[in-house]
Amino acid sequence: MASGPVFGVLVLNQISKAGLERLPAARYRTGKDIAQPDAILVRSADLHGMDIPASVQAVARAGAGTNNIPVAALGARGIPVFNAPGGNANAVKELVLAGMLMAARNLGAALRFVDGVDLQAPDLERRIEDGKKAFAGFELAHHTLGVIGLGKVGSLVADAAIKLGMDVMGFDPEITVEAAWSLPSQVRRAASVDDVLRNAQLVSLHVPLVKATRHLVHAGNLAAMRSDAVLLNFSREGVVDDAAVAAALDAGRLGCYVCDFPNERTARHPRAIALPHLGASTREAEDNCAVMVAEQLRDFLEHGNVRNA
Ligand code: MLT
Repeated sequence: MASGPVFGVLVLNQISKAGLERLPAARYRTGKDIAQPDAILVRSADLHGMDIPASVQAVARAGAGTNNIPVAALGARGIPVFNAPGGNANAVKELVLAGMLMAARNLGAALRFVDGVDLQAPDLERRIEDGKKAFAGFELAHHTLGVIGLGKVGSLVADAAIKLGMDVMGFDPEITVEAAWSLPSQVRRAASVDDVLRNAQLVSLHVPLVKATRHLVHAGNLAAMRSDAVLLNFSREGVVDDAAVAAALDAGRLGCYVCDFPNERTARHPRAIALPHLGASTREAEDNCAVMVAEQLRDFLEHGNVRNA
């Protein structure tokens, strides 16, 4: 039996077993009914507005973004927030690739079409032929992908797109790309967000939601996009002005909107593909993120170390 204090960790979402195993019962009480917890562990639970108990010394988010955590208010109380940057980057990259392929090959509409087809109809062959014509798409290779935000996810997306034979241009509104990350040399550096929106046929957004990135894509710069362009948003809902996107889709000024945040304005549009925030939802990513934050929590609670991932 380990000696020393036993820490209470209030766990407000389902967290992968691999992560919880890093908080062994000999040293940790974990669950959703922990009185006077030493730490709080969440995935999607929104802690804004929650009365964080005075006993809490640290908060951990098993994911990359921290929008659901009142980071500044906790910081003012000296409470560190741990997250898992990069822990789900590969999962998000793979879903972005799926989104690009779905858009390029009209798979959303094609699946809906097949759903509506009577498979016993005597003219089934003709109907399938109609679908084949209606949903002809384009190949990703040789088309231009613009990546806005070249952090962990954006860099992986750019790299994968290069490997698919795409022409890739990238821009990051926050950092000097050259200094911060190494991207494949084939990625062209764009001058601005607008430069990307004007020139890329597919545009994928990978920026965090902060004041400067709220409605980064808005009616003004959407108007500069090609009318057959595909906009992919796997970052955060508020990065795109959804009302402006809906208007652009309606007016035929945008080819397709692929997003991981369904809402009433865009989700059911015939040229939109909306997913229920699935980017990080793979077994591997859930394990990675949970393990990363559980280890940070342990290091902090047992040794007082504050480290970033
Ligand atoms: C993230 O910020 O990494 C994702 O939102 C994680 C998640 O889906 O929980």
